[in-house]
Amino acid sequence: MHRELTSNVYAVGAIDWDRRLFDELVPLPDGTSYNSYLIAGTEKTALIDTVDPAMTDVLVRNLEELDIDIDYVVANHAEQDHSGSIPRILDIYRGAEVVCTPKCKDLLERLLGVPEEKIVTVADGERLSLGDKTLEFIHAPWVHWPETMLTYLREDRILFTCDLFGSHLATSDLFVPDEATVYEAAKRYYAEIMMPFRTIIKKNLARVKELPVDIIAPSHGPVYNKPGFIIDAYVDWTSDDLKNEVVIPYVSMHGSTKQMVDHLVDALIARGVTVKRFDLSVSDTGKLAMALVDAATVVIGAPTVLVGPHPRVVYAAYLTNALRPKLRFASIIGSYGWGSRAVEMLKEMLSSLKLELLEPVIVNGRPVEEDFEALDRLADAIVAKHREIGSI
Ligand code: FEO
Repeated sequence: MHRELTSNVYAVGAIDWDRRLFDELVPLPDGTSYNSYLIAGTEKTALIDTVDPAMTDVLVRNLEELDIDIDYVVANHAEQDHSGSIPRILDIYRGAEVVCTPKCKDLLERLLGVPEEKIVTVADGERLSLGDKTLEFIHAPWVHWPETMLTYLREDRILFTCDLFGSHLATSDLFVPDEATVYEAAKRYYAEIMMPFRTIIKKNLARVKELPVDIIAPSHGPVYNKPGFIIDAYVDWTSDDLKNEVVIPYVSMHGSTKQMVDHLVDALIARGVTVKRFDLSVSDTGKLAMALVDAATVVIGAPTVLVGPHPRVVYAAYLTNALRPKLRFASIIGSYGWGSRAVEMLKEMLSSLKLELLEPVIVNGRPVEEDFEALDRLADAIVAKHREIGSI
């Protein structure tokens, strides 16, 4: 089924209601969509992005309903959930050419075997006329791959942003139905996909804000017909401001680390600090990633397995390091039986974040009075640091 965004601009993508995992890593509690858009000008027609190869048939059916020939397939991004149906589209629409950045050309050839002669590259700022509609291409490298670009439809003031501003959300609504729901899904998406590129995205936001935009049409989730909502959210998430928040991912095997986490959580709440606590045995890693978007501090709760941190904690530390949140402070708490290198190993795993490490609290066996006092001192140190950076 196709739907009209504005006159002669159609949504022709696919809703993936049932998908629960992306990249075999990212949880999709609400499914997702692969948005593709058809722009029919008076002289030429362009398809903006395609869909995941698992849903090519849906795209083909939607295009058949419209019964319009395609001259250009604009590939804003080479990742297969958007580019994977390009080979089939080129088979059906024999005269169509792919339009993309030079880096994207290379990737499309390598990833999908798209023939070189079918690809036309465009420079940053280049325009392409479809007759009464004009496309303008904006190179946006590292949002979130090196080849990414945005496409601006001047006459209709629509910005097609592919992954940028997207949300993994399957919904029957073409436009954002409820900003609170979409905010949650878009923040999760930002945390999992975009956060490592925060500073680059910040620069791109400045360019987006210069354009007169009435509609932002991403390639996942609903379309924004009030784009200020998502632009403001991105300005907040990418800003250098840190919130008076502590994220505590932890595992407890026999209860000692949990007792320490319980105590620290209460101590922080009593001091006016917001706490986001995650038992890694059952937590959704997407929620952990979202909590890391704003927080000033992470405290990892790690029992010792053999001599190192529990493997679930290793996974969370690896993920935190890779997602590059704007955290400033870290600490490690936990218990061990006969020996532990958990602190050294976790410090090493978080090394690319260049965090200031606050005095860890590592206990041999179950925590006793003096350990709880050490946790109180850690809570005091966190408050002092948050004050120092202006989060309080
Ligand atoms: Fe939705 Fe980077 O692909």
